[in-house]
Amino acid sequence: MKILLIGASGTIGSAIEKELAPRHEIVRVGRTDADEHVDISDSASIRKLFERTGPFDALICAAGNVTFAPLGEMTADSFSLGLRDKLMGQVNLLLIGREFANDGASFTFTTGITSVDPIRTGASASLINGAIDAFVRAAAIEMPRGMRVNSVSPNVLVEAMGSYAPYFRGFKPVPAADVALAYAKSVEGLQTGQTYRVG
Ligand SMILES: NC(=O)c1ccc[n+]([C@@H]2O[C@H](COP(=O)([O-])OP(=O)(O)OC[C@H]3O[C@@H](n4cnc5c(N)ncnc54)[C@H](OP(=O)(O)O)[C@@H]3O)[C@@H](O)[C@H]2O)c1
Repeated sequence: MKILLIGASGTIGSAIEKELAPRHEIVRVGRTDADEHVDISDSASIRKLFERTGPFDALICAAGNVTFAPLGEMTADSFSLGLRDKLMGQVNLLLIGREFANDGASFTFTTGITSVDPIRTGASASLINGAIDAFVRAAAIEMPRGMRVNSVSPNVLVEAMGSYAPYFRGFKPVPAADVALAYAKSVEGLQTGQTYRVG
C-alpha cells in the first residue's frame, strides 16, 4: 500500500513508520522534517499536499496541536488552536483526501485518552479528542467507495513521560511500539468506525 503518514517525525509517527515500513511504501509528511510538507491547520496546504502525492491507499495522521491551560484561565480563543489544528485538520484530511483516495482506502486519526480520562489543563484536549472519535463513528457509515475511517486513542506514551509525567500521575504509560500496532490494525484490517484505545 501507499501510505501517507502525517507526523512521521514525531514520537508516535516514528513508531508507526517502524511498524509499517517493512510492508508498505510510506510517504513521510510533516511541517518540517519530511518528504512532503503540510500544515494540517490550513486546508489549502492540505489540498496542495494531495495534488503532489496523488492517489493513496491509506492516510494516517499522528499530528495535532491543542492548547493546554488551566480551565480558569481559558477563554474561547484558547480553544481555537485545537479546533483549527487537531480537530478540523484531521476532518479536512478526510474531506479533501477522499477525492484523491483509492477505492477501499483507509483514514486513521489520532485522539488520546483524555477524552474519557481527563487531566489538569486538558479541557481542550478532551474536547477535541472526543469530537474526533465521534466524527469517526459518524463518517464511517457514509464513506464512499468502500473507504474506511478509524481513530487511535493512546494512553500517555512511555517515550513522552519525560515532559508529560507531571500531568499524568497515576496513568500507566504505553510503549510507542504498542500504540503503532493499533495503526497497523486500522490500515491492514477491515474494521471501520472504530476507536482503538491503547493502554
Ligand atoms: N505523546 C503522547 O503521549 C500522546 C498520547 C496520546 C495522544 N497523543 C497525540 O498524538 C499526536 C502526536 O503526538 P506525538 O507525541 O507523537 O507528537 P510529536 O512527537 O510532537 O510529533 C508531532 C508530529 O506532527 C507533526 N506536526 C505537528 N503539527 C503539525 C501540523 N499542524 N501539520 C502537519 N504536521 C504537524 C510534527 O512535525 P513538524 O513539527 O515538522 O510539523 C511531528 O512529526 C498528538 O495529537 C497528541 O495529542 C500523544
